[in-house]
Amino acid sequence: MTEALEFHDRMLSLGLARVSEAAALASAKLIGRGDEKAADQAAVDAMRTQLNLLDIQGVVVIGEGERDEAPMLFIGEEVGTGNGPAVDIALDPLEGTTLTAKDMPNALAVIAMGPRGSMLHAPDVYMEKLAVGPGYQTGVVTLDMSPSERVEALAKAKGCATDDITVCVLERPRHEDMIAELRTTGAAIRLITDGDVAGIIHCAEAEKTGIDMYMGSGGAPEGVLAAAALKCMGGQIHGRLIFRNDDEKARAHNAGITDLDRVYTRDEMVTGDVIFAATGVTDGSILSGIRREVDALTAETILMRSKTGSVRRMTYRNPTG
Ligand code: FBP
Repeated sequence: MTEALEFHDRMLSLGLARVSEAAALASAKLIGRGDEKAADQAAVDAMRTQLNLLDIQGVVVIGEGERDEAPMLFIGEEVGTGNGPAVDIALDPLEGTTLTAKDMPNALAVIAMGPRGSMLHAPDVYMEKLAVGPGYQTGVVTLDMSPSERVEALAKAKGCATDDITVCVLERPRHEDMIAELRTTGAAIRLITDGDVAGIIHCAEAEKTGIDMYMGSGGAPEGVLAAAALKCMGGQIHGRLIFRNDDEKARAHNAGITDLDRVYTRDEMVTGDVIFAATGVTDGSILSGIRREVDALTAETILMRSKTGSVRRMTYRNPTG
């Protein structure tokens, strides 16, 4: 009996890939249609339906929002058939709603699963994030360093000049000072308009993507999803929650967070072994987007397990009949 309720990540992983595939395929018809809400809704509906077919006792810990804000896949929603292991779910059915609506690169459907209690219940506030890929000493860069110190430290560790480093940053007015300081080091800056989960995953495949480091603030829930991905691929992420008002502090309090200044490492955001699946919606440097043929849709998914560090890339062709 106990055996049956263990978190068999290997057995559940293919089911998880089906979940992200379903969300990406559902939003495909809305790529480039200028309707962010419709694209998101299609992904949410499909992800929820597919998730509820899995034999798990799942609870959404990173989801579409608080219960009173999101009708589906809200934080605390129970998902799955109820027959199976107790698991935490972190998801973003459409990471990059604007990217999808405008048919811009790197929109993803994303989901991670781990044993109950294995993921930080990050409130829907901003998080200051700093990430690098695998192969560096722990703490090679930290949030306490200035942006230029991080570039210098990473260049030293990589054995290259600072102008050989590429940093990925969300293009936002709040990042202008950081970008100006980074420019003084000569580092290249890959500016992205949205989608920092993909931005952070890019660090884990630096040779392919050309990105060495990610920094800047974005959604805290996306920070936990990115931590789950890096736990599988290798790499470091540091995150500190940012509170702009009392309401945001109250959200943290409700999520059980008492130390508001804490810096979370990857393994503090995701404490147990996880499985992670992401399916490309629009084309990107890590995954192809949904391909439309006359009679089929094709989706590419990356499926990873932190226990083994295994990374699978799968292509699914779905006849549309
Ligand atoms: P959505 O897909 O939910 O719109 O989020 C996209 C995103 O770019 C995230 O990747 C990122 O963490 C966050 O929005 C940044 O927030 P903001 O747009 O407020 O700077």
